Amino acid sequence: MAETYTFDAKDLAEIEKLTAKYPEKQAAVLPVLWYAQDKFGHSDPAVQKLVSETLGVPEAHIRGVVSFYTQFYDKPMGKNVLDVCTCLSCQVCGGYDMLHYIEEKLGIKAGETTPDGQFSLQSVECLGACGYAPMLQVTNDKFVNHLTREKVDKLIEDLKAGNKPEFESNPMPQHEKGS
Ligand code: FES
Repeated sequence: MAETYTFDAKDLAEIEKLTAKYPEKQAAVLPVLWYAQDKFGHSDPAVQKLVSETLGVPEAHIRGVVSFYTQFYDKPMGKNVLDVCTCLSCQVCGGYDMLHYIEEKLGIKAGETTPDGQFSLQSVECLGACGYAPMLQVTNDKFVNHLTREKVDKLIEDLKAGNKPEFESNPMPQHEKGS
């Protein structure tokens, strides 16, 4: 039987605050979906239905938003979601090599989750960090830049041990001292 999801009184109060910032409820779909995904861990069709009913916005519209953004998960995901960028800059710098290396290492293909629920893998469009190609993002949060096989090995080891990688901030040339 499909799981059902509900918002409690605290959730509804938070959602009320979010929707109050916009002239109409449909404009609040993104922040409310984000809130829902944070609570339930994903935005699968049952969560989409709940958001649709809560905001009075057609389910088809909610589904369209979820399917447009890779940041929204339309099914339950692993504990760590690895978004490997395979867009142009990352692609020419070995993004697909990194993706295939991770597929081999985890024994899954892009779009799948490991049987132990530890990792989901996605091939995604540009994450706005082209200068650091090839790169990936961990669960809509930390970026890991200038990927190599060694770096991927270390990252997966760290995540398995429950350690999040540090945010990698590499200064762009114009921000370097003395330039
Ligand atoms: S192409 Fe990969 S971050 Fe832009």
